[in-house]
Amino acid sequence: MHPLAPLRADEIDAARRTVLASGLADVPDDAVRFAYVGLCDPPKDVVRAVDRGEDVAVDRRVRLVVLQSPQAEVVEAIVSVTRGEVDRWEVVRDVRPALQIEESIMVLAALHAHPEWNAALDRRGIEDRSLVQIDPWPAGTFGLAHEEGRRITRCLAFLRESKEDNGYARPLEGLVAFVDMGRGEVLEVLDLGVVPFPPNHGSYYPEHNGPLRTDLKPLDITQPEGPSFEVEGNLVRWQKWSMRLGMDPLEGLVLYTVGYEDGGRVRPVLFRASVSEMVVPYGHPGPTQAWKSAFDAGEWGLGRMANSLTLGCDCLGEIFYFDDVHADERGRPRTRANAICMHEEDYGILWKHHDMVSGRTEVRRSRRLVVSSIATVGNYEYGFYWYFYMDGTMQLEVKLTGIMSTMAVAGDDAGPHAKMIAPGLAAPYHQHLFNVRLDMEVDGPDNAVYEVDALPTGNMGREENPWGNAFGTTSTLLESELAARRDVDPARSRTWRIVNRARRNAVGEPTAYKLLPGSTPTLLADPGSSVGRRAAFASHNLWVTPFEPEERRAAGDYPNQHGGGAGLPEWTVRDRPVVDTDIVVWHTFGVTHVPRPEDWPVMPVEYAGFSLVPTGFFDRNPALDVPPSPDHCHG
Ligand code: NI
Repeated sequence: MHPLAPLRADEIDAARRTVLASGLADVPDDAVRFAYVGLCDPPKDVVRAVDRGEDVAVDRRVRLVVLQSPQAEVVEAIVSVTRGEVDRWEVVRDVRPALQIEESIMVLAALHAHPEWNAALDRRGIEDRSLVQIDPWPAGTFGLAHEEGRRITRCLAFLRESKEDNGYARPLEGLVAFVDMGRGEVLEVLDLGVVPFPPNHGSYYPEHNGPLRTDLKPLDITQPEGPSFEVEGNLVRWQKWSMRLGMDPLEGLVLYTVGYEDGGRVRPVLFRASVSEMVVPYGHPGPTQAWKSAFDAGEWGLGRMANSLTLGCDCLGEIFYFDDVHADERGRPRTRANAICMHEEDYGILWKHHDMVSGRTEVRRSRRLVVSSIATVGNYEYGFYWYFYMDGTMQLEVKLTGIMSTMAVAGDDAGPHAKMIAPGLAAPYHQHLFNVRLDMEVDGPDNAVYEVDALPTGNMGREENPWGNAFGTTSTLLESELAARRDVDPARSRTWRIVNRARRNAVGEPTAYKLLPGSTPTLLADPGSSVGRRAAFASHNLWVTPFEPEERRAAGDYPNQHGGGAGLPEWTVRDRPVVDTDIVVWHTFGVTHVPRPEDWPVMPVEYAGFSLVPTGFFDRNPALDVPPSPDHCHG
């Protein structure tokens, strides 16, 4: 078995049995819960040795976060399923795992039975309690007594007209409940006063949105000879690219050992890539909104919330699906069918030229490989789309859709921190900030990063710029972690070039890939605020660290109710050197969402992302060998 193969059901089962049989847990077996079960990444030298065809022993290890009490503590465990041994069992205090589904259900039952909650529903004239939708939110950290030593949630509620209705059309404004998730105990029901329900429903179902368009003709994508990729276990090969795919409960889709074949050998680009964290901070200061800041990777889990995808709907064409085998909260193996979708897309033209003298035209079609998964986290959907192109470029595009978090407003003024999206209904301003962890390996493990800006050359009229047209690029080596905390600058066309200084291309430059950022904000919250401390990774667009296997997640392993400062700010303050060594590049990107009526009742997709573009990695356009399409695209 390859060391990067996804965990199999029998390995997940073996990990659970090994933990229970070890006697290390303080509670009976049926009280043990598993908040995280994932592949413990093998040492890189083992992966490389296996990929070279060497016969090395592979120790398959599973990383677990175990819960054995309702308190603010977890057990971190590592189990070798090859040896049947527990390698690590460490109680970590004053941290919380991601929110648990079983506990969330307990929260709903506790609220339904609570007299103050029911009194608040009575004040809003709600008779049928089964139509009240309760959303348990990650609680954040605000120094309140409720938070101390507990795993808590803050709950917001919405009223549905029917079981299938869109509850976000009718918020129970002014109502928030604090609930101890571990104990299923209601701590406080805060009712700030009744705000009338908005008058309109928010259905996005076809039966409520007719008449439907009738002029759409079929658009079928057919590949009569099948797709051009090959799949072997989790290994994918397509158009000189090769990579392994995985699914982490928290990070979602993971790419391993991404490389491009050039001159008969695979040249590495990335050892591992994943969305290490994301945060959705809300910009409204009001009591039902100000605490909202969901870390959808670390507090819910992009893999845990992954969809089973449907042919012809989520993905169109000749599709290959990968299932996701994962553990439930009791550690038992479960299979999510069709969790990862892979297909090819036509992507317009790859390159073209018409020679005016000879009249000869050459044009090539571009095609990309698409590897995607979609997570539903509460009201929102996030689609993660990795694209691989024939010219050696790769790209991550996040597609944001779903339903906005809403608030009811008396009157028609949403104030300066929200927008009216329907009568009596507003959506607060917020951001979606993603952090991708790129364990780079451009032509080998030892890389360095340069910041490259384009700037005018001195003042017009001087010797170096007599006509005022001259501009050049500056290239600044980011030598250590503090110097490598950087932000985008579109006015300077800023990019970050990840180079291998031991390898040269045909023009004598180090081989490189550049990180081409999109138009992206950083965190707008104050650095001293609760979310500013917890999501400090989002205060810069770029961070670079030396590779360290335990540094995996941009806001640390336990962002839920964390006091802040964990992850990138904590690691990089050591200011370790990041030149000509095994480095990890962390890129924060996203959108600032100023809601609009067109985003209601369901959002058309909004996009965010970045590209990794070969920049002197190849000696010339690597896509000259793409053949012309049959018959009519050349000559
Ligand atoms: Ni949004």
